[in-house]
Formats: sequence, C-alpha cells, structure tokens
Amino acid sequence: MEPLIEKAMRSDRYESATHTEWTIHFPEVEVLIPEEQIQARVAELGAQIACDYSVENPPLLVGVLKGSLVFLADLMRAIPLPVQFDFVAISSYGAETEHSGQVRLLKDLDTQIAGCHVLVVEDILDTGLTLSYLLELLRMRQPASLKICTLLRKPERHQVEIPVDYCGFVIPNRFVVGYGLDYNGRYRNLPFIGVLRAMSQEPKQVGVQAPPLHGRDEQDDNTGCSRPSSLHS
Ligand code: IMP
Ligand code: MG
Repeated sequence: MEPLIEKAMRSDRYESATHTEWTIHFPEVEVLIPEEQIQARVAELGAQIACDYSVENPPLLVGVLKGSLVFLADLMRAIPLPVQFDFVAISSYGAETEHSGQVRLLKDLDTQIAGCHVLVVEDILDTGLTLSYLLELLRMRQPASLKICTLLRKPERHQVEIPVDYCGFVIPNRFVVGYGLDYNGRYRNLPFIGVLRAMSQEPKQVGVQAPPLHGRDEQDDNTGCSRPSSLHS
C-alpha cells in the first residue's frame, strides 16, 4: 500500500479549491475582501506585532471564539516570536444579525494573565460591547499590557469607544461572512470575506479601508481599500 505521506503529497490527486470553485459553491456570497488581500494584510499585521513586542516579551494572543479562530491561526504564524495563545468564548448576538445588548462569558481563559502581555484577537469590532466587556474583565487580572487586534471594524456601528491597536480593514455597515465570521453558524470556512447578496442593500463598489501599519495612505484599486493614517482610533 502507498505510504500515507506520499499519497497526501501527490498534487495530481488533490488540489486546493480555486477561487472560482468557492464562488460557484457559494453563489449567494458576494466577495468584499479577496483572500489574497486578507493574507497580505495579515502578514503586515504580524510583522508589525513582531516589531512591537520582543522575544523576551512575546504576546499572549487571546482569541474570541468562534469568529477569531481563522484570523488567529493565520496571524500567529505571521508573528515570528514565541507567542502563546488561549481562547475565551462570549455570547452577544440575540437574533441572527443583531446584538442582544447582553454580553455573557461562556468560556474563560485557561491561562493566568497577571504580568503577561495580552493581545486580544477579535474578528470584528461592531457595536464594541463584546470587547468593552472583555477588556474590563481582563484588566482586573492585571496583565503587564493589554492591546487589541481586530481584523475588521464597522465604525458606523460603534456604541462604545474601544482603543484599537491593530486593525485589518475598516468596512462599511454591512453584515459580513467568511474567514471565521458566520451567519447562523455557516460560512466561517470561506477563505475570503463576503456579503450575503440577499442582505445586500448597497451597490457593489463599497469602500473597504485598511488602516495603516506605518502611517501610510494607500488605495487598492480592486476593492477601494485605503489605509487611514493612524493605527489607534
Ligand atoms: P460587537 O457588536 O462589537 O460586540 O460584536 C459582537 C460579535 O458579533 C463579533 O465579535 C462578531 O463575532 C459578531 N459580528 C458582528 N458583526 C458581524 C458581521 O457583520 N458578521 C458576522 N458576525 C458579526
Ligand atoms: Mg467575535
């Protein structure tokens, strides 16, 4: 029998799905941020985080389940430091796409964070209620530092001011799925971020901004991504 490792490596038998295959299987999802753009941005964020911490003081990445799982998995492999990670689970959404206003801790950290450099990794900053609750909880445990990295943020929806240290993209007020984000538990495995066409209210050309890592202002012609001039907001 053929050794498993060789079988798995035979590229003529199994190839990863192409972008076209994904879009054929998920015709109801309109791509908002393509996979390549996410990967490029994650690499930038990882490099910036690696610069801001050190081998002696690496961050403890705290992912918020379940949405941040995919982002966290990619991000930690873009940070060439001896990082550790842990997860919390927080429930916040009552109905399918609306915040219930009630935030509840479903799963606490396994790690003691007193004296640690904690970097919270979140999928999206929407109303801000989840992160506001989590930050308060973590602060009481007296970490050496506490920062936030969110892949996406929707400024139009913010109800509370959250100090974001690293942000992937600023997006308009649309309900998005993919790359960890779900609608009724589905779409988390899409390698890109998209909008459900049925819920789409705005024209295709919506501005998606990527905040800067080095104070640059850049524009990506494909999606209208631009990079505002400050990481902190
Ligand atoms: P908050 O409103 O900032 O507390 O966000 C709560 C959580 O709701 C986020 O961490 C996401 O998991 C989820 N969420 C917010 N907006 C979206 C969205 O557009 N798509 C999918 N999930 C979302
Ligand atoms: Mg989340």
